[in-house]
Amino acid sequence: MKNIVILISGRGSNMEAIVRACAAQGWPARIAAVISNKPDASGLAFAAEHGIATATVEHKQFATREAFDAELARVIDGFAPDVVVLAGFMRILTAGFVQHYAGRLVNIHPSLLPAFPGLHTHQRAIDAGCKLAGATVHFVTPELDHGPIILQAAVPVRPGDSEGELAARVLRQEHQIYPRAVRWLVEGTLHVERGIVTQTEGESQLAYAAD
Ligand code: GAR
Repeated sequence: MKNIVILISGRGSNMEAIVRACAAQGWPARIAAVISNKPDASGLAFAAEHGIATATVEHKQFATREAFDAELARVIDGFAPDVVVLAGFMRILTAGFVQHYAGRLVNIHPSLLPAFPGLHTHQRAIDAGCKLAGATVHFVTPELDHGPIILQAAVPVRPGDSEGELAARVLRQEHQIYPRAVRWLVEGTLHVERGIVTQTEGESQLAYAAD
C-alpha cells in the first residue's frame, strides 16, 4: 500500500478528484495526508470529512523559503510518502525540496507546457489567440512549471471565451487526467528516459475534449 501526500493552497478540486478515484478504482494506495500552506484552504474540510489526516504549514510564519520548505518536508515525511502531489499548491519550491522528492513529486499546471508557465495562464492563452489550451501533469524539477511531461489534456479556445469559461473547460479535464497520472505513479507504470515520459502499459498520455 503506497502513501500519497497531497499539497493544496485553496479549493482542492483536483485533490478531491484524486481522493475519489483512489477509493472508486481501488488503487494500491491511500491518501495519507492533505497538507496546506493556508489554514483557510477550503479543501482541508473535504479531506477531514473523508477521514484523511490534514496539516497546515503556514508559509507566512517562516522568514525564508528554505525554512518553510524544511518544515514542510518534515511534516510530509512524517507520513512516509511514496508520492507527493501538488494540487493547486501555489508556492515556489526550493531546489533542495524538489531534489529530496525527485521522481515522486508531481504537479498539474493549467496550460499546455512549455507554453505559459506561471500565473494567469488562461487569459494569456486567450490574449495570444491560441486555438487550443489545456493542462499538463509533470514531474517537478527545480525550474518552475518545467519537468518531464506525464500527461496532457487539450481543449479548444472558443471565440469570445472569458477567462472563467476557459478555466472551467480546462479544469474539467484536470479532474480527468490528474487521477490517471497519479495512478500510474502508484502502479509504477511510468518510465523516464532523457526527460521523456512513457506509460509502460500503453495507456494514452493525451486527452482531448471539445467541451
Ligand atoms: C488548478 O487549475 C491547477 O491547475 C492550478 O490551480 C488550480 C487549483 O484548483 N495550479 C497552478 O496554477 C499551479 N501552477 P484546485 O485547488 O481546485 O485543484
